[in-house]
Amino acid sequence: MTENIHPIFDRLLQRTDREKRLNQRSKVLWLTGLSGSGKSTIAQALERRMYNEGFFAQVLDGDNIRSGINNNLGFSIEDRQENIRRIAEIAKLYLQSGVITLNSFISPTKEIRNFARSIIGEADFIEIYINAPLEVCEARDVKGLYQKARSGAIKGFTGIDSPYEAPENPAIEIKTNETTVEEAVDKIFKYIQPIISQ
Ligand code: ADX
Repeated sequence: MTENIHPIFDRLLQRTDREKRLNQRSKVLWLTGLSGSGKSTIAQALERRMYNEGFFAQVLDGDNIRSGINNNLGFSIEDRQENIRRIAEIAKLYLQSGVITLNSFISPTKEIRNFARSIIGEADFIEIYINAPLEVCEARDVKGLYQKARSGAIKGFTGIDSPYEAPENPAIEIKTNETTVEEAVDKIFKYIQPIISQ
C-alpha cells in the first residue's frame, strides 16, 4: 500500500518560505472601534507606511469585504458574526501566504473578536483598539449614518441601539480625538516593526 503514498510534505511550501521571500513575518492586525472612530483612515495610512518601509500588507475593510464576498450580510448580531468569521478566514489565508493584513471592522463584541482570534490563532492576532467617544464619532458623522440611526431610519446601529464592547486588554489603544493620524500610524508601526521583521 505504501508504494502509492508519496511523501511530499518536505517539498510543500511553508508559510515560513513565503515569509522569507517577502522578508517579513506575517501577522493579523485587528482594528476594532465604533463607526467613525478612524479605523479605516488609520489602516490605510498604516498600509502606505508599511509599504514605504518595505513591508507587504493588505487592508481588509467594509469597502472591499461587505461590497463583495459579504454582500449578502446585514447588521444583525448573527450577520456580524458571520461577517467576522469569513473575514477571519480570509485573514488566515493571507497569513499563510506571508502577507500582513490590516483588518478594519467594528467587530463590536468580545465574543465576536474572540471568535476571530480563535480562527486566526492567539500568536498571530494583534488587537488594536481605535477609541473615540461616541459623541465624537457622532459629531463627525462622516457618512451621515448616526443621524439616520437617531431618527430611526437605521435600526441596530452600533453605539446607538446595538452594543459596542470595548476591548479589555488590547495590544495598542489609540485615542483618535487626542492623536493625529500620523501619530497613530507611528505608534502602531513602532510596536509592530520588531514583530514583523525577519
Ligand atoms: S461589523 O459590526 O460587522 O464588524 P463592519 O465593520 O463590517 O461591521 O461594517 C460597519 C460599517 O457599516 C459602518 O462603518 C457603517 O458605515 C456601515 N453600517 C451600516 N449599517 C450599520 C449598523 N447598523 N451598525 C453599524 N454600522 C453600520
